Amino acid sequence: MRKEIFEQPTALYNTVHPRVVKGLPDFTHDGITPGFFKDVTRIQVVACGTASYAGLIGKNIIEKLARIPVEVDIASEFRYRDPILDPTQLVVVISQSGETADTLAALRLAKKQGIKTLAIVNVAGSTIAREADIVLYTYAGPEIAVASTKAYSVQVAMMYLLGFRIAADKGAPMDWCCRQLPKLLNAVSYLPHVLAMEPEFFRYAEGLKNAEHLFYLGRGLDYSLAMEGSLKLKEISYIHCEAYAAGELKHGTISLITDGTPVIALATQRKTLGKMISNVKEVKARGAHVLLITLEGLEVDPECYDEIIRLPAVEDEYVPLLLVVTLQLIALGAANARGCDVDKPRNLAKSVTVE
Ligand code: G6P
Repeated sequence: MRKEIFEQPTALYNTVHPRVVKGLPDFTHDGITPGFFKDVTRIQVVACGTASYAGLIGKNIIEKLARIPVEVDIASEFRYRDPILDPTQLVVVISQSGETADTLAALRLAKKQGIKTLAIVNVAGSTIAREADIVLYTYAGPEIAVASTKAYSVQVAMMYLLGFRIAADKGAPMDWCCRQLPKLLNAVSYLPHVLAMEPEFFRYAEGLKNAEHLFYLGRGLDYSLAMEGSLKLKEISYIHCEAYAAGELKHGTISLITDGTPVIALATQRKTLGKMISNVKEVKARGAHVLLITLEGLEVDPECYDEIIRLPAVEDEYVPLLLVVTLQLIALGAANARGCDVDKPRNLAKSVTVE
């Protein structure tokens, strides 16, 4: 798993670079010509597990960049809820393996209703790749460890590329479009720096050795990341963990915060930083042990945390690519500290081909 975490800069390079033509995302080699998304009115993302969390990042990014509504559903829910689909929408399925039974069933359901389908898949020639109308391959290379890491990052990268392309197809000004891609590439260029912060992440994770519960808090993109970080931690370290939207805390979960409860607060989004910090103060006042993860240069009250990690200051929308590496390494460090087999966590399978 560690090896795959460290392969993320290469995986991202391999996925993004073949699709950059004259500073714009270009999917011509994938069978998508410019203008393809012009008449798409909304997007329905369907996936399972980590891939569904990549979809949540996609919702945030595509809605912001391209201003079209994006819904995200877990495949096992989507397929049985008689979803309302219409021909002007696009169903996007995301799957590392391309074989997940529920995701495949969701794809078939959409196709049966005559809806255009696009699959984001890592394994060439997999069933989902063969059956979808259009395939965008991610080039993470084989992912062997059960808990997904590099496959998630490249799925997220694909969400940015789709967002830029859809925005361009819908008439966003050319100079605006050309300014977006460098921001993504800039964030990717900081990945080796974040990977080199591993000892700092492990130092914190060592302290989780005897933890039973942990809370992840965040707002907006940080909340979507919190879900992925929480899943990673549960999968490989077996620490019970909940991801909570920070503003929702006072409506319930804050009752579980007692003296010493570990809380990882993600505070990277400038727009909501003030609100986030006041939420963090609420848990701190109840005795939580807070790790605050924020960006270099952002001003935060030192009273609100016990430990702090600062990541390179990239633009808000591109923080997920750096933040996820941090959360993967914290999960890995915690699992190592607890003596868990990180590559083969109990009860989990890499590819789930049954319902
Ligand atoms: C399994 C794996 C997860 C993965 C999920 C979806 O549960 O353990 O890591 O996120 O399936 O897999 P897929 O291949 O469709 O992305």
